[in-house]
Amino acid sequence: MRKPFICGNWKMNKNVAEAETTINDLKDKVAGIDNVEVGICSTALCLTTVKRAAAGSEIVTGAENIYWEDSGAYTGEISAKMLADSEIEYTIIGHSERRQLFGESDYEVNLKVKSALKHGIKPIVCVGETLAERKADQIEAKVNFQVDAALKGLSEDEITDVVIAYEPIWAIGTGETASAEEANRVIALIRENISQSYPEAAKKVRIQYGGSVKPHNVEEIMSQPEIDGALVGGASLEADSFAEMITKTA
Ligand code: G3H
Repeated sequence: MRKPFICGNWKMNKNVAEAETTINDLKDKVAGIDNVEVGICSTALCLTTVKRAAAGSEIVTGAENIYWEDSGAYTGEISAKMLADSEIEYTIIGHSERRQLFGESDYEVNLKVKSALKHGIKPIVCVGETLAERKADQIEAKVNFQVDAALKGLSEDEITDVVIAYEPIWAIGTGETASAEEANRVIALIRENISQSYPEAAKKVRIQYGGSVKPHNVEEIMSQPEIDGALVGGASLEADSFAEMITKTA
């Protein structure tokens, strides 16, 4: 019932020419796959190039961040309205790198989620615990707090358009992954928490796992019943490895 969503997050990698080449390669490699949604989130600079290169394929595009106002004196920012004007479908919100390196708060994450939905952009909201929180047995408390804060004030209908990415911070870019069973367990807890206030939306909302998902472990991760996709950093940079992950999921 929930279509798997494998989405690349290129982070601050690739210039415009590299972005175009990678999408052209990827397009050929995933042509005809229709049981997995495939997405690429790029820097703001590359977004329209990615969008244009993906034309004629099923690949959807996303930003890596937005600001919550529509326009104005916010130097360096990009709005959900601008994404909508360029027919971009998704935006990542609250990635742990933004929370940790740029001080993004749960309150700001909520403002961004609301702004994205107002303009028809689907947010991919990242949540996850640090290693210290994991050791202190605070995984559930942390992720549920972040999810509740991100979804605050949304209607049940709006929540069905939100994608949540569970990314344990210690697993990002480290080669370490939560075991597939552990990721499934936490994602089930997130869904259970959402169902307490939004029982219908909880059945529909897609919850991805992210953190060192690679061609060699994607099948095991995607075989878990609660895991609806993956948010992929490093392994999404090469068309070959990313396409292999999509093919293994399809
Ligand atoms: O958004 C993606 C995550 O930060 C995962 O990155 O696959 O390089 O560990 P990674």
